[in-house]
Parts: sequence; structure tokens; C-alpha cells
Amino acid sequence: MGTQENGAIVVSGASSGFGHRTAQLLAEAGHTVVAVARRSRRLDALAASTSTGRILPLSADVRDREELGKALDGLPDDCPPIVALVNNAGLSRGFGPIQDGDPGHWRDMVDTNITGLLNATSLLLPRLIGSGRGHIVNISSIAARYPYSGGNVYAATKAFVHQLSLSMRTDLAGTGVRVTCVAPGMARTEFALVRYDGDEERADRLYAGVTPLSADDIAETVLWCLSRPPGVNVNMVEIMPTDQPFGLGFAPGRA
Ligand SMILES: NC(=O)c1ccc[n+]([C@@H]2O[C@H](COP(=O)([O-])OP(=O)(O)OC[C@H]3O[C@@H](n4cnc5c(N)ncnc54)[C@H](OP(=O)(O)O)[C@@H]3O)[C@@H](O)[C@H]2O)c1
Repeated sequence: MGTQENGAIVVSGASSGFGHRTAQLLAEAGHTVVAVARRSRRLDALAASTSTGRILPLSADVRDREELGKALDGLPDDCPPIVALVNNAGLSRGFGPIQDGDPGHWRDMVDTNITGLLNATSLLLPRLIGSGRGHIVNISSIAARYPYSGGNVYAATKAFVHQLSLSMRTDLAGTGVRVTCVAPGMARTEFALVRYDGDEERADRLYAGVTPLSADDIAETVLWCLSRPPGVNVNMVEIMPTDQPFGLGFAPGRA
């Protein structure tokens, strides 16, 4: 596929949702995938489920730069050179007006969505630049550009991802490294369960009356971005359910 042939692709947040499906599709396309997340059993199951390509489970917390760095340095010798990074690990915690926000939730989101993404990026950029054909795909959110009430700090972390993607592209011009930002709307994964502390009923309510995006929709989009010819940089992709209005909020009956 495209310019990633014979190289390995790192996918963060591969134990669930978008990252899990992206790792599967990349492996099905014949790639070596380095699958990063904290839940190692899930990564092992993912690796065992692939019959084409190769998935290397890499258990690490993206918030911990040292741990992630050691894990990446410990990849097997026969792992091909890393040529792409899908910065997908991320989460939302809590929902409601900023004045009722929980600073612990804010820290979780900032540490994961911002610092975690920076950690993975900085650790892998030397290899991506060295490959002469690197590609970084950052997963942002439509929340970065269209605020919905109750999403404040989460949306702000994704606005960071959006802006950083544009800035990285500017800085990396001339290195051959491409940068893409994919901004999904509402999708059914474990995302809402994490946001609502495992409250399934509340998560179900969020999707009532809407056909949400699936992990497939986003994984296929990521694969499309990665497989464009080397001279083509997809800057930004926004993708939403047809049913999703702008400006979801904490109105009764919704989130
Ligand atoms: N679903 C949506 O509606 C939606 C919409 C727009 C954007 N997004 C974004 O899409 C990305 C993927 O979300 P998803 O919907 O697929 O949610 P998900 O099913 O909850 O998956 C999130 C993934 O991130 C990983 N992760 C979280 N914290 C991590 C950490 N500290 N270190 C390593 N991995 C970590 C999780 O793995 P472990 O828990 O095993 O570590 C999991 O694999 C996120 O960046 C999210 O913000 C989601």
C-alpha cells in the first residue's frame, strides 16, 4: 500500500475502537503494525487474530515518555523500519459545564491527548525523518472546531491536535514526512463508556436516534490517507454521521 510498503506502522490506542480496527486493516493489507496501548491482553488477542501481516503488541502508557521510549527501543530486531505513526490513543473524561468540571478529569485528558501524543511523536520523529517517507496521522475530533456544550476541556485538547498538525506540517516541509489530521464525529466505540465511567445506560442514550460512525469508517479513512502517493498530503479530514447535528450538549435526554 502506497509508500508504507516494507515499513512498520505504529498505531497508538490499538486495544479498542478506531485504533484496534486500524491495526487490523493495516495488517490485512500486509503491513507490520506496532500496536500500542496499556491493556496488554487485548493487544495479544489482536496480534493472535491476524493471519496476514504482522501485529507486534507494545504495552505502554503514552503518558509516560520513558516507558514508551523503552518499549519502542525493545522492538524485535526483525521489525521493519518505522515509517508511519497513527496518533490515536485518547479519551474524554466527564461531561458538563466547565464550572462543574473535575480537575482530575482535565489532567487525564491533557496528559493523554496532548502529552501522550507529543511523547509518541517526539520519540518516533527521528525514525520517520530518517526513513525519508514518514507519515503521521493524528486523530483529532470535530469537537476541535465545533464546540458542543459540556465538551470544553476535551474539545480544547483536540483543538491542540488540530493546530499542532498544521504546525508540524510546516516544520516538516522538506523532510518527506507527511502530516494528516483526521477529525471524526460521534462514533460507537468504548469512548462514551470511558467518558461516563463505565455507565452503559448513559452511553447508550448518547447514540439514541443517531446512526453513529463505526470504527470501520475511521480505520478506512486512515488507510486511505496513508495510501495516497508520496507527493500527496491529505491535511485534514472531517467525518461525521449524517444524523449528527452540530452543538450536541448536556440537554436532558442527550448526554
Ligand atoms: N468515538 C468517538 O466518538 C470519537 C470521536 C472523535 C474523536 N475520537 C478520538 O478517537 C481516538 C480513539 O477513540 P475511540 O473512539 O476508538 O475510543 P476507545 O474505544 O475508548 O479507544 C481508545 C484507545 O486509546 C487507548 N488509550 C487511552 N489512554 C491511553 C494511554 N494513556 N496510553 C496508551 N493508550 C491509551 C486505549 O487503550 P488502553 O485503555 O488499553 O490503554 C484504547 O485503545 C481518541 O483520540 C478519541 O479522542 C473519538
